[in-house]
Amino acid sequence: EFAYENILVEVRGPVGLIRLNRPKALNALSDGLVTDLQDALDRLEADDSIGAIVVTGSEKAFAAGADIKEMQSKTYMDAYLGDFITKKWGRLATCRKPTIAAVAGYALGGGCELAMMADILLAADTAKFGQPEITIGTIPGAGGTQRLTRAIGKAKAMELVLTGRMMDAAEAERAGLVARIIPAADLVDEAIKVAEKICGYSRPAVMMAKEAVDRAFELTLAEGLRFERRLFHSTFALEDQKEGMSAFAEKRPPQFKGR
Ligand code: CAA
Repeated sequence: EFAYENILVEVRGPVGLIRLNRPKALNALSDGLVTDLQDALDRLEADDSIGAIVVTGSEKAFAAGADIKEMQSKTYMDAYLGDFITKKWGRLATCRKPTIAAVAGYALGGGCELAMMADILLAADTAKFGQPEITIGTIPGAGGTQRLTRAIGKAKAMELVLTGRMMDAAEAERAGLVARIIPAADLVDEAIKVAEKICGYSRPAVMMAKEAVDRAFELTLAEGLRFERRLFHSTFALEDQKEGMSAFAEKRPPQFKGR
């Protein structure tokens, strides 16, 4: 619906679908692509008709990392003063609506980091994950050392980050990086189904649930439990919560209104 150079954006009912689309560079995350992605996420987040967002790539690559050819000539000052990576890249992680990364093929470096910013990571059986920055004389710069370590633990994260080796979909699922593996041909349809299912629930309840899970990575257990309880109590102010509970008691499907 919106025209971009490096991504394709479609609206499928309540679901916004973003396809990274720089096929010649295996969706390497150039400044142009990341700017397009940020803009699309801003628009989809502002659009009340959208309840969830799916980000995907091509069959061959979700994204093969930051654009190495663009980074090659950057100086320290370019990187430091431009706040390289954090500023725009983090947009997916700050999305308040639920997000799903549907990964087929390579998710390397910044591609793996971008996928890890989504709430739910679904992998095709062809997916390959890795943080190969070490092989080009640098280190992950968009969350790889932090999000990967939290997702799969120190043993595997350290090995992947220090050797640059790739992990296939089965290993990524065993390690806890991905929620589920899906046959490649069904990946996007299945991701949209998951998104539609989430869109069928109370939007504020979904947003609160997401916010509470995210806090588990920021807070102590005691603080996290307090945060969860405050949000849980606040769901008692939702019309949707009353509707959900009445519908259960009356043995009928609920009609959520998003308030
Ligand atoms: N940046 C720029 N261009 C890239 C790229 C990248 N990250 N990854 C692939 N491309 C380009 C290649 O240069 C090639 O372009 P040309 O046809 O113009 O030569 C095209 O995409 C196809 O790639 P290959 O020919 O290499 O394809 P392949 O199937 O032989 O190999 C691959 C696939 C193993 C993914 C390989 O492309 C590769 O290793 N890519 C780089 C992966 C990488 O190191 N990523 C980390 C980047 S650093 C980073 O992301 C920093 C951070 O933390 C944010």
